[in-house]
Amino acid sequence: MLAKLSAVFAYSALVWYFMGFMVLIQLILVAIVAYLAAGGSYQWFYVALRTLPRDLKAVCRYIGLLIQVRSHQRKNLNIADIFRQRVAKHPNKVCFIFEDKEWTFAQVEEYSNKVANVFKNHGYRKGDTVGLMMENRPEFVCIWLGLSKLGIITPLINYNLRQRPLIHSITIGNCQALIFSSEVTEAVKDIMSSLPSDITLYRWSPISNTETVGLGEKNLTTMIDEVPSSPPDVIEKVGYHDRLLYIYTSGTTGLPKAAVITHSRYCFMSLGVYHVPALKSDDIVYCPLPIYHSAGAALGIGQAILSGITVVIRRKFSASQYFPDCVQHNCTVGQYIGEMCRYILAVPPKPEDKQHKLRMIYGNGLKPQIWTQFVERFNIPHVVEFYGATEGNANIVNIDNKVGAIGFVSRILPAVYPISIIRVDPETGDPIRNSKGLCITCKPGEPGVFIGKINPKIPSRAFLGYVDEKESQKKIVHDVFSKGDSAFISGDLLVSDEFGYLFFKDRTGDTFRWKGENVSTSEVEAIISNLVDYRDAVVYGVEVGSDEGRAGMAAILDQDGTLNITALADGVKKALPSYARPLFIRILRKVELTGTFKLKKRDLQREGFDPLKIEDKLYYLNPSGMYELLTEEIYVHIITGKIRL
Ligand SMILES: *[C@@H]1O[C@H](CO)[C@@H](O)[C@H](O)[C@H]1NC(C)=O
Ligand SMILES: *[C@@H]1O[C@H](CO)[C@@H](O)[C@H](O)[C@H]1NC(C)=O
Ligand SMILES: *[C@@H]1O[C@H](CO)[C@@H](O)[C@H](O)[C@H]1NC(C)=O
Ligand SMILES: *[C@@H]1O[C@H](CO)[C@@H](O)[C@H](O)[C@H]1NC(C)=O
Repeated sequence: MLAKLSAVFAYSALVWYFMGFMVLIQLILVAIVAYLAAGGSYQWFYVALRTLPRDLKAVCRYIGLLIQVRSHQRKNLNIADIFRQRVAKHPNKVCFIFEDKEWTFAQVEEYSNKVANVFKNHGYRKGDTVGLMMENRPEFVCIWLGLSKLGIITPLINYNLRQRPLIHSITIGNCQALIFSSEVTEAVKDIMSSLPSDITLYRWSPISNTETVGLGEKNLTTMIDEVPSSPPDVIEKVGYHDRLLYIYTSGTTGLPKAAVITHSRYCFMSLGVYHVPALKSDDIVYCPLPIYHSAGAALGIGQAILSGITVVIRRKFSASQYFPDCVQHNCTVGQYIGEMCRYILAVPPKPEDKQHKLRMIYGNGLKPQIWTQFVERFNIPHVVEFYGATEGNANIVNIDNKVGAIGFVSRILPAVYPISIIRVDPETGDPIRNSKGLCITCKPGEPGVFIGKINPKIPSRAFLGYVDEKESQKKIVHDVFSKGDSAFISGDLLVSDEFGYLFFKDRTGDTFRWKGENVSTSEVEAIISNLVDYRDAVVYGVEVGSDEGRAGMAAILDQDGTLNITALADGVKKALPSYARPLFIRILRKVELTGTFKLKKRDLQREGFDPLKIEDKLYYLNPSGMYELLTEEIYVHIITGKIRL
C-alpha cells in the first residue's frame, strides 16, 4: 500500500516537474520575444539580470502553491477535510496556544465535531447561515470549522460593532441564527428589537452555566458539552467551491460589506502565505490580529488549519506585549498590520525587543517611513509585506526583503501574472482610455490603479465579490486590454520602479490637489504620525470657500491631551513641501476606530473644519507658520477669502 502510494507520488511529482520544465521553456521563449519587442536594449539586459533570481524564486514557489491548490481542487476537498488530514498526521501536536492553554489538533477536531453535532441535531443543513460574534479564542475557530462540516456558511461579525453597523452586518449576512459570546451580551440585547423575529440566538460562555440573559437564547456551551465528539454524519457533500465564510470589509467609507469566502478562496489565501514566503511546518506563528478579518482568519489561523503550524492566538492586540509574547512562546514568525508596527514603535525600548526568535514577520501596511526603524530596533531579519484585498483576486508579495515595497511584477515577463497598473484619474478612480477604448498600462514611476484580471475558471483569478451583487459590480472594470475582458479594480494607487517593485501611493479618491500639486494623503499621514510619536493620524482634503482644489487637513488622535502643537508645526515645515502641509488640524480625544485600527476618513472629511459644528479642538496654519486655534471669526475670514491660505 505504502509502496503504491509513494509510486503514485513519485509519478505525479515527475509530471509536475516536467510541466514546470515546459513552463520554464515557454517563459524563456516569451522573454526572448519581449526582449525583441523592447528593441533589444542593454537596459533590458541589466534589469533582466537584476530581477531574474527574484522572478525565478517567485515562479518556483508559485508553482508549489498551485500544485497543492490543484490537488485539493481535484479531490474536491473542503477545509475540514484538509484539517482532518493534519489531525491524522499529528493529533497531539499543539494547534493553538491561547492564554497559556494549549489546544492539540485532536482537541480542535473534537470540539468542532461537537459544534457540528449540535447544529445537525437542530436541523441546520448545507447553505444555511449562522453568524458568529465572539472575541479571539480557539473556540471561535472550532465553531466556524464545525459549522463548515455541514456546509453552513458563517458570517464573522466584528465583536466591536454596536447598534446600526451591527444590525446591518447581521442583516446583510442573511443570518438565520447568531452565535454570540457572553462578552457581547449587552450589544446583542441593545439591538434585539431590530433583528428578524425568527432569528435563533445561541449564547456561548467560557464556563458552562445555566443562567439565562432573557433573550430566549439557547445555551451553546451546555449543548456542546452534551453531544459526542465523533464526526457528524454528513449527508450533503461540502465541496471545494462551496461557500465557507462571509468576511466583512470595513473600508473608510460606508457600512461594512460582506465578502464571500469559499473553501477554495480560503485555501488559496492561506496556502499562499505558506508557500510564497516559505513558512515551515515547525514554525510557530504569532497572530495578534482580530480573527474575524481575512488577515487573521485566513492568513493567520489558516496556517494551523491547512498547514499544521502552531499558531499563538491573542485575545486582543497589545503593543507592549507583542515581543514579550513572541519571546515567551518561542514564535518564529509574526503577523502584523502596519498600524500595529506604529503602536509597537511607540512603546519605550526594553530588553525583549531583541530577545525573540522571530525569523520573519508577514503582513500588510508597514509604511516605508517606519520600515527601517522598525526592523533595526527589533532586529527582524526578514519582512514579507504583501498586498491583496479580502474580496479581490489580485495578490502580490514582497518576497526579497525590499524596503518599502508591497510586492513586484516581473519586468521580463509581465504577462505571467495577470495583474497590472493602469492609468486613472486619481480623484475619481475612473480608468483613462485610449482611442480604442481600452485601458493604458502605466510606465515605471507613473502612479496608477492596481487591477487583477478576472478569469472565472481559476479560483485565484475569479472575483467572488460581495454578498450584495450591486456592490460587486462597482469593483469590476470591463474592456481592459481587449474587448470583452474584465478585471477587479482595487482602488489603490501604486507605482512601480524600473525593477518592477511596487510601492503603495494612496487610495483613489484620497489623493487631493492643492496649488496645482497632487498630494498623497497616505504619505502625509505617515509623516505626520512620525512627528506626533506614532499617534493615529488621518489626512484628507477639504474644500475651502471658492478656492480651487482641496486644502490638506489632519485629524490626530490625542487621547491624553499631550500633543505638542508647536513641535508639530516645526516638524511639518521641515518634512513637507508647502502644498502638502495640513492647513487644518483636528484633535480627536476619543474615536471609533474600525476593527483594523483605521480612523473613519470619509466621515471626518464630510465634517470639514467649521468650529461651530465640531466640538474637537481645531487649528489652522497661519501665515507665520504656526498652528493657531481656529475660531468662528477666523473660519469666516477663511471661507470668504479675507485670510488667504
Ligand atoms: C442551559 O442548559 C441547562 C442544562 O441543559 C438547562 O438546565 C438550562 O435551562 C439551560 N438554560 C437556558 C437559558 O436555556
Ligand atoms: C523555548 O525554547 C527554549 C530553548 O530552546 C526552551 O528551553 C523553552 O522551553 C521553550 N519554551 C516554550 C514555551 O516552548
Ligand atoms: C495631478 O493629477 C492630474 C490628473 O491625473 C494630472 O493631470 C496632473 O499632471 C498631476 N499633476 C502633477 C503635478 O503631478
Ligand atoms: C513643544 O515643542 C517646542 C518646540 O519643539 C518646545 O520648545 C516646547 O518646550 C514644547 N512644549 C512642551 C510643553 O513640551
